[in-house]
Amino acid sequence: MAVRGGFSSKLGFVAAAAGSAVGLGNIWQFPYVAGQNGGAAFLLVYVGWIFLIGLPIMIGEIAVGRNTAANPYGAYNKLGGKSWALVGLFGIICGVMILSFYNVVAGWAFGYFVHLSFGGLLKETDFAGYFYNYTADYSDNLIYSIAFMIITAFIVYRGVQKGIEGTSKILMPTLFGILILIIIYGLTLPNAMDGVSFYLLPDFSLINGATIYSALGQAFFSLSLGMGALITYGSYISKSDNIVNSATLVTVADTMVAFLAGLMIFPLVFSQGQSPSEGPGLVFIALLGVFQTMPPLVAKLVGGGFFLLLCFAALTSTISLLEVPVAFLVDEKKWSRKKAVAVMASLIFIIGLPSMLSYGASDLFTNFTFYEGKTKNFMDIVQDVFFVVSLPLGGFLLSVFIARHWKTKNMSDEIAQGYSSYRGSLLEKYFNTMITVICPIVLGIMFVLTLLQKFFG
Ligand code: PFF
Repeated sequence: MAVRGGFSSKLGFVAAAAGSAVGLGNIWQFPYVAGQNGGAAFLLVYVGWIFLIGLPIMIGEIAVGRNTAANPYGAYNKLGGKSWALVGLFGIICGVMILSFYNVVAGWAFGYFVHLSFGGLLKETDFAGYFYNYTADYSDNLIYSIAFMIITAFIVYRGVQKGIEGTSKILMPTLFGILILIIIYGLTLPNAMDGVSFYLLPDFSLINGATIYSALGQAFFSLSLGMGALITYGSYISKSDNIVNSATLVTVADTMVAFLAGLMIFPLVFSQGQSPSEGPGLVFIALLGVFQTMPPLVAKLVGGGFFLLLCFAALTSTISLLEVPVAFLVDEKKWSRKKAVAVMASLIFIIGLPSMLSYGASDLFTNFTFYEGKTKNFMDIVQDVFFVVSLPLGGFLLSVFIARHWKTKNMSDEIAQGYSSYRGSLLEKYFNTMITVICPIVLGIMFVLTLLQKFFG
């Protein structure tokens, strides 16, 4: 096997895994999906999924990764043979597809950063109109998303420790800081409290099938679960790390950032009389109106700072997404890291082009017909197929794999290497029950329901 890198310390792994988890999913997507699905009711269901299902699956993924020191395909192959390896391969394909649209949105954030800091974006009067024109005109987006992919590729090329770990360690705390600043400012605005109640006082009648499956998909996406990103990162950590602690830290950090992003956005949305169910433009539209109320220099500083950090948060996620297929090609196909990075980054960029054209640039991809006259934009379909449906499916398959094939005894042995009192503890019983009973049943049922609702409902 090619020489594999590794994280230098426990903190390095936690920072990198948290960097993978925290991204556009938390700051861009979580608020808009919550806004479309009842606000506080969604938040409640989301947090439930995160801790009930997300955490045990994360521990399972990291354990499989560390045990095998391999990419998702190699890991399943080592422990379960060729047919299980297909599950790993499926995860890698999901990662490729997720990165293809993720990079487009990262390009929006990058473009906003540049136009806000160095151009006249803050002088606009209609930010919703600006967002729709911006995303419909792909020429600008093409440049920024190419730039974003090149930066991602460069960091992944430099390798696990130098590239991934170093970047994450500095950026995560800064992101927390700027979120808190904007939250405090937002809470002082008129009608901000309406946003707080929308976000924190649940109306239980708003919980329905759509809330439940959207929250599950969102939870998997946000924690980077179900496609082997954490098998890959887990493969780089040392045997003395405590997997349970690390996974818990990552989960809590990720949930905190999503929670804070909502707490930042909804007061701003309500104070400007906008609709919380605006959709993918929510963060891009609501924040600009608020930056505009600040003195120009402050606005450039805070606004530019915000979009820059959004780019960095996206970057620590795009590198983990690109690392998955790259690790596969390096381990299994013996490609050089350089070749794997260059080929995958180019390929994924090209696969992402239809997503880039999904917001008005091309009628074909904006109103894509996918099932008996049902139309959706292409990027939404990629999201539905490759994360809302597939990531929980990946979690289901992982839990069945551990329960029936690898066996929880081996998982416990792996965990116990860095956590000596784990064996025989209550915690061990809890996680084993979750993995062998609760996760397979709940995720199996959810997979069928989500499929029915999304595509045949
Ligand atoms: N967790 C990332 C986010 O919330 O933005 C997205 C993501 C990264 C999903 C890595 C999957 C993954 F493997």
